[in-house]
Amino acid sequence: MNFWQKLSKPFTALAPMHDVTDTAFRQTVIACGRPDVLYTEFVSIDGLLHEKSQKRIVQYYLQFTEIERPIVAQIWGNDPKKFSDAAKIIESLGYDGVDINMGCPDKKVVAMGGGAGHMLEQEKAIACIKAAQDATTLPISVKTRLGFDEVDLKWIEKLMQSDIPALAVHLRTKKELSKAPAHWELVDELNKLSGRERVLLIGNGDWPRLNLDHLDGVMVGRGILGNPWFFSESGKPEKLEDRLKILKLHAELFEKHFLGIKSFAMLKKHIRGYVGSFHGAKNVREWLMDCKSIDELIAVCDILIA
Ligand SMILES: Cc1cc2nc3c(=O)[nH]c(=O)nc-3n(C[C@H](O)[C@H](O)[C@H](O)COP(=O)(O)O)c2cc1C
Repeated sequence: MNFWQKLSKPFTALAPMHDVTDTAFRQTVIACGRPDVLYTEFVSIDGLLHEKSQKRIVQYYLQFTEIERPIVAQIWGNDPKKFSDAAKIIESLGYDGVDINMGCPDKKVVAMGGGAGHMLEQEKAIACIKAAQDATTLPISVKTRLGFDEVDLKWIEKLMQSDIPALAVHLRTKKELSKAPAHWELVDELNKLSGRERVLLIGNGDWPRLNLDHLDGVMVGRGILGNPWFFSESGKPEKLEDRLKILKLHAELFEKHFLGIKSFAMLKKHIRGYVGSFHGAKNVREWLMDCKSIDELIAVCDILIA
């Protein structure tokens, strides 16, 4: 039995977000209130399979810790053979599952036939899924969008019939990017598709708006930015001190995992999120934003918390 089958429904998932949801961020989210399933940010299978870049890619994108289980590594690419090889690597790293990105609208990714580009070569997309399935015992899930230019329910149906345990659907087309409101009104249509009974359906886009009885799970992306308490019962703390404690934890985890691997700027972009909306915290914000290193940020947090 794979982990998907053990989840109680409806479950929550932290969306994969490039340059955001690394292990330091995910552990911080868990400390605030944990989602049921976590995904890594997406990883190029070309990069992962390239001898020269593999070590860096694993350190940069694929570190994880035991508390993050169940954790799914998301990969993108276009070549079935490479999906097969990449799935084996993900398995050897100890992940609980592999997710194939079939929805990313980024021009470069689509031009290479990855992400939403799979919707234009649907038979090949299914071959990519099959290749990964045949290569590993890990469950292979898919995250996609409703269609390329238009809603394409046949695409969703095809995925539902491809023996995957879970399908996360960002309820927009590739063309809509993140501009149009997510089409939660189409969940009923998705529920009627053939193959639906064999797959866990995860809704995604602008966080949950519908009664979750219609879905097996919900995936949250931007709602977590600046609010790692999104999945907690109590929500974002009122006290500045409590927010700073979590910022400090994030900084410590970042230092532990990424010192010498990621630039300080990758951590710094989160600072505003923690204290941004806090009234009367202008000076605190400026002081934190002026920090030039992780150690300085941690020291300033300590002074402010004391
Ligand atoms: C900064 C950022 C990075 C993202 N990176 C990924 C990614 O690596 N893989 C992926 O499948 N989706 C990625 N997405 C899309 C999100 O996972 C999610 O589908 C989208 O933001 C809609 O959900 P939301 O309204 O809850 O944010 C990214 C979104 C954002 C904002």
